Amino acid sequence: MEVITAIRGRRAINYFDPQRPVPEELLRNLLELAALAPSSFNLQPWRVIVVDDPEKKALLRECAMGQPKVEEAPVVLILVADPGVVEEYGEEVLRDRLAKGYLKDESQIEGVKAVFYQLYGDRESLRRKLFAVKNTALFAMNLMLAARGLGLETHPMDGFEEPCVKRVFGIPEDKLVPMLVAVGYPRPGVKLLERPARRPPEVFTSRNTWSTS
Ligand SMILES: Cc1cc2nc3c(=O)[nH]c(=O)nc-3n(C[C@H](O)[C@H](O)[C@H](O)COP(=O)(O)O)c2cc1C
Repeated sequence: MEVITAIRGRRAINYFDPQRPVPEELLRNLLELAALAPSSFNLQPWRVIVVDDPEKKALLRECAMGQPKVEEAPVVLILVADPGVVEEYGEEVLRDRLAKGYLKDESQIEGVKAVFYQLYGDRESLRRKLFAVKNTALFAMNLMLAARGLGLETHPMDGFEEPCVKRVFGIPEDKLVPMLVAVGYPRPGVKLLERPARRPPEVFTSRNTWSTS
């Protein structure tokens, strides 16, 4: 599917077909495509919990303001932003960059690690959390567009209690949960309401300096 078509056609789908599962291979393909999203220094600070067990979906729905789509969609992805990726995965990312010629030699590795801390702060800092969340949001958007290309539909959600999701799914305290994304096929016969209006570029854009007029 052409990218403009995917963007124009994507909608937050409220009604999923509960009878139509997402084939495992397709789901893997979707996650692989989503992971082609860009990320700061390629650090990829996202993790995904695939929820397809009906009992787990029922529990997730309780955390998510009772939203029916959480149970009706065949799969709900819990997108987790991991601030700890710098410490846990940074070395591997830099070794890959070295092997591919982005770094000249081994001696640059420690220098770039120092830049990580300069840019993304200490592990517990707000800066580090923002780093993890912004990159995970790019992963989410890539996933939603890739889904269109694979013939799937999605629905992003932040209408949930994060502490509840963390407790039920055993997510460690230092992680963040920016959103859930329901994935599946639209329920046959259901017509979507017209897309909610977007503000036009003239309203949200200024040139060369901040301006709201
Ligand atoms: C981060 C995020 C969180 C959202 N959370 C919810 C939600 O919890 N429940 C819901 O019904 N819609 C949710 N939405 C869907 C939006 O309402 C929807 O994307 C918006 O109205 C525009 O509609 P469209 O996506 O069909 O163009 C969310 C969207 C985003 C991007």
